[in-house]
Amino acid sequence: MTQNLAIVAPSVNWGHLAPARAIELHKPGEGELLIKVVATAQNPVDAFHADTGWIVPFYPNVPGYDGAGTVAAVGAGVSGFAVHYRVAWMRPSGENGYGTYQQYCLAKVSGTVHLPSTLSLDDAATLPLAYFTAAVGVYTLLGVPLPLDEAGKVAPVVAGEWFLVWGANSPAGAAAVQLAKAAGFQVIATSNQENFAYVKSLGTDVILDYDDLDVVDKIQAIASLSLAFDAISQPSTSAACIAVLSSAGAAGKLAVVRPLSGTAPDNVAVQHVLARDADPFSPGHEHELEGLTRLWQALVSEGRLRPYPVHAMPLGLNSVDKGIELQKREQVRAQTLVYHPQFTQG
Ligand SMILES: NC(=O)c1ccc[n+]([C@@H]2O[C@H](COP(=O)([O-])OP(=O)(O)OC[C@H]3O[C@@H](n4cnc5c(N)ncnc54)[C@H](OP(=O)(O)O)[C@@H]3O)[C@@H](O)[C@H]2O)c1
Repeated sequence: MTQNLAIVAPSVNWGHLAPARAIELHKPGEGELLIKVVATAQNPVDAFHADTGWIVPFYPNVPGYDGAGTVAAVGAGVSGFAVHYRVAWMRPSGENGYGTYQQYCLAKVSGTVHLPSTLSLDDAATLPLAYFTAAVGVYTLLGVPLPLDEAGKVAPVVAGEWFLVWGANSPAGAAAVQLAKAAGFQVIATSNQENFAYVKSLGTDVILDYDDLDVVDKIQAIASLSLAFDAISQPSTSAACIAVLSSAGAAGKLAVVRPLSGTAPDNVAVQHVLARDADPFSPGHEHELEGLTRLWQALVSEGRLRPYPVHAMPLGLNSVDKGIELQKREQVRAQTLVYHPQFTQG
């Protein structure tokens, strides 16, 4: 029998997660794939889980949201995927079989994309949660139509309009820039100065330093904005986005990745992205998930979604405690930590 080593959080107080331990090998159900996880990425939310457990619905729990690997088995009713296909996917909510911090995990076909040979599995593992966070914000909450033509190719849906991304140097912010560009917007992005070259390489039209005290005035002088994505969503960053949008006069919309702690004037609607366990992976959102997956596939196939810089961790999944510690100390900057489950020793 094939071994399946997994990181398992036993209870709310996780303590140390390593070493990985052997768990059952899952069987794919209807519309599901069993995937050999070659690369899985760490997200800030893993450090929150480790601290508080507030978001984890049950224990014992196999963490991990982002995966890239090869299909090991297909469930009933699956078409378009076969054993050995290279894929990336976002973890759906639900049981431990879906956690990506294991050697073999389950994925739903909707939420999974094929990878071109030009995209490495390490690079692909940086995309899922960043893509879905930005996509739910830009398309579902801000109401931008999906930029897809009838042939399923990426095609712009607006022209001459501006879009603001606050914190384009983060994974979600970098994805938001690329999604807004794919839709045809001109993008103003804020970033730290250190990452200006990276943010520019994403296609950003205007980049401003988010630590510049005059940054809001500078944005207002360039364009009148009605749409913004705040990829950091600290009180000060959301307040800055709201100041930009409210000054434009017309109704503005802001998507935030963390709940808003202040208030917004009546002409700015603020909406909170929930890319993980709620939209678009919950019942009733199948149509939304299918559309966002189609767009993700088109962007990846056309090479229009650049991965975030990777920092590969040693020892397979057994360096997870080190990775979470780095995240808690805010030492994961301008890179995504990637683990290789197949190199894990039990
Ligand atoms: N709602 C959802 O569904 C969802 C999904 C995914 C992520 N998130 C949240 O979205 C946020 C971004 O996640 P991510 O993975 O894209 O990025 P990340 O790894 O958290 O990176 C954030 C970057 O933003 C910059 N930053 C600037 N000001 C900051 C501040 N006041 N506090 C913290 N960071 C600041 C930091 O750069 P410098 O400090 O180096 O300038 C940092 O590198 C996180 O809070 C995450 O928990 C939410």
